[in-house]
Amino acid sequence: MADIKCFTFKIRKNDVMSDILIVNIKELLQVENEPVSYVAGKDMQNLPRIENAWLWIKEGKVFDYGEMSELPGKEGLPTERIDAAGKYVLPAWCDSHTHLVYPQSREIEYIDKIKGLSYEEIAARGGGILNSAKKMQEDSEDKLYEDAMKRLDEIARWGTGAVEIKSGYGLTTESELKMLRVIKRLKENSKLTIKATFLGAHSIPMEYRDDQSKYVDIVINEMLPRVAEEGLADFVDVFCDKGFFTVEDTDRILETAAKYGMRPKIHANELDYSGGIQVGVKHNALSVDHLEFTGDAEIAALKNSGTMPTILPGAAFFLNMELAPARKMMEAGLPVALATDFNPGSSPSGNMQLIMAMGSVMYRMLPEEVINAVTINTAYAMGVEKELGTIAKGKKANVIITKDIPSVEYMTYAYGENKVEMVILNGEVM
Ligand code: NIG
Ligand code: FE
Repeated sequence: MADIKCFTFKIRKNDVMSDILIVNIKELLQVENEPVSYVAGKDMQNLPRIENAWLWIKEGKVFDYGEMSELPGKEGLPTERIDAAGKYVLPAWCDSHTHLVYPQSREIEYIDKIKGLSYEEIAARGGGILNSAKKMQEDSEDKLYEDAMKRLDEIARWGTGAVEIKSGYGLTTESELKMLRVIKRLKENSKLTIKATFLGAHSIPMEYRDDQSKYVDIVINEMLPRVAEEGLADFVDVFCDKGFFTVEDTDRILETAAKYGMRPKIHANELDYSGGIQVGVKHNALSVDHLEFTGDAEIAALKNSGTMPTILPGAAFFLNMELAPARKMMEAGLPVALATDFNPGSSPSGNMQLIMAMGSVMYRMLPEEVINAVTINTAYAMGVEKELGTIAKGKKANVIITKDIPSVEYMTYAYGENKVEMVILNGEVM
């Protein structure tokens, strides 16, 4: 048996892939026999599981799994074995909303916040996103890449196996392309599964504040064609909110993005009832994210859409905001996803386990609901639900082995502790 503690962590692709058998698993969680795209409403309380289980990983994929009692009859079992007695095994987290390529932290601005300035006031003074955009101009692609790689390493230690990363600190064509090229390099070199989102419409640069439609024109006529031509983005995003981009701006950008085959993932209803949710649904957005200002009309718009409502607890916590009505959404039969929003301005942490604890503590979500919200539902919200988000035969072997913990409930209860002992990505032990 391999000693679980002797593995060192390496997230850059280079290791040799071997077949692995994990045995004596206390519970194998989020197993899926019939594929689903996401879990909604009351079903979020179900977490399919097998007690005293084994899991066979072959060529980077989930090959087979079952109860320990069936194992002796199996042929061709791998010699490399991991004993997971007392431990849970479950799919690695998918973090469907981050801005983890950024030039520098912004703790000084945070002190302004503590002193009482609002997010919008800081943005109006040229702080916030514009502050990061200024620093972005100065940083080299190599530095951005190395810094982001370290952040990927850090989030993987907490169990994240897939991550969506946005541009949006460029705000000029060249700078946006630079960010997206960094994300492309991360995709090529990291073991994490990465999706890229073009967020040229993240904030309005100072010189366009009198006529923001001119900046929207640049996003549409200059940025989008270049991004599409270089194949740099999987998705498109717009910060559709009070003081940022309007519903009309968003409509125009999404219409053009659709021509390039980019599906939207929208920043919506964080600061007001902005109409962001509705315009996102209208354009068949994969997700609408933040959602602090969600009422009956927004819930009605989301019903029977293919749009995943995604809550970002880290930002609400850090900015001390209203909380999105998670329970109300689930009671209305909607799915809910939880992601970190990892960014230097409103959520300087990519720790999904902390987000999961916030899901229970702040949003009163049950541990089972939380686990669904950070695995299958976030996998859907980043378009990877066919390959990730559950333990299913043929899916990528992105799995977490927990420490010896007393229960599943402990996952969202012990909020400061890293409950993850080992992370396996694409069948490789990290
Ligand atoms: O998701 N809401 C818009 N954008 C980011 C904030 C980014 C920043 O402040 O740097 C967010 O919270
Ligand atoms: Fe965000």
